[in-house]
Amino acid sequence: MTPMPARSLPAATIIDLVVAAAVVLPTGEPIDRDGFYEWMWAEWGDDLAGVFEGAVDAAEAVTLGFEPTARVIDAATPPADRDWVARLPQATAAAWFAAEPAARAAAAVLATVIGCDVQGVRAAPPADDDAWRAGFGPIDVPGFGVILPAWAEGRAAAGVPDAIIHVDPGAGFGTGLHETTQLCLGALARWRQADGPVDRVLDFGSGSGILGIAALVLGGRHVDSVEIDGLVHGAILANARRNGVGDRIRVVGQLPQAATGYDLVYANIVAAVLLAEAEALCRLVRRDATGGLAGCVVLSGLLTEQWPQVAERYARLLGTHPLMTHKGDWHCLQFTSHEAGRPCP
Ligand SMILES: C[S@@+](CC[C@H](N)C(=O)[O-])C[C@H]1O[C@@H](n2cnc3c(N)ncnc32)[C@H](O)[C@@H]1O
Repeated sequence: MTPMPARSLPAATIIDLVVAAAVVLPTGEPIDRDGFYEWMWAEWGDDLAGVFEGAVDAAEAVTLGFEPTARVIDAATPPADRDWVARLPQATAAAWFAAEPAARAAAAVLATVIGCDVQGVRAAPPADDDAWRAGFGPIDVPGFGVILPAWAEGRAAAGVPDAIIHVDPGAGFGTGLHETTQLCLGALARWRQADGPVDRVLDFGSGSGILGIAALVLGGRHVDSVEIDGLVHGAILANARRNGVGDRIRVVGQLPQAATGYDLVYANIVAAVLLAEAEALCRLVRRDATGGLAGCVVLSGLLTEQWPQVAERYARLLGTHPLMTHKGDWHCLQFTSHEAGRPCP
């Protein structure tokens, strides 16, 4: 599902492969598919520019019986749970080589691997960057500002509602297009308009880093960005740097154990994770001297049938009712001291 790390070589020739779940190397050693790709890297080192292992989309995963519903990507289950390619009995792969002679030599060796079918060797198609880029931004988020793709002109500016942030659309979930992200940005804008502090912000399930970066652009001082998918950690930092806030963000793989007192806690994750981590998240947000809620908790990624249960659990832990906003089926809950006692619309 995920391309292997690409090298900075110009890829010119592709070998198309069909690979069984387990293969036998020319040395006679049996190995699983992931091990086989690692072996390819070890074998061809700098000649290999990348191995694209293919993708299975949510609708296909339902057809294959891997998922009960096609909503799973939008619901953002952890990447390990949706590596459907790893579960295929036979997967297609494309090995990109910098030069044709190296590709042809590798193809000859690959043809001797039992369980690996070499389908052909072909020239890489020319990159169509313009068409790909045209599909992104600008995205207007009413109340917050504008999300621009990384390559667009424009500068990050502090102040609501004119914030501008730049995000690399290839950097994990969080391009700004999804309803769940936009609902969180709306909640941030409301919190800032009410002079809610953002000295310390926790962004749980940060994806591209968009929500933490938005808080920093609106005057935040420090963000702890928590993302289970280590492959996007570098992209979060790169996005932060391109918005001029790289020195104010820390990226980690799991919730901090000891820290407390966050002014703003965002969690745009699936309902199951929000319920499992309810106590931890409610412990991390800032409290007043009497233990009442002093910061803001924003929960997103909740479908129509899910939000009431999550709202009830957090209301009990935080001692206040949320403001609920929604876009279509997606719902967002915002708990703040300012909204205390306010009924859900
Ligand atoms: C819906 S995306 C949200 C991305 C971004 N914050 C946004 O609002 O656009 C949820 C992210 O949470 C991550 N995630 C899922 N479970 C997690 C967990 N237990 N701990 C940390 N991150 C998790 C996923 O990898 C995904 O990047």
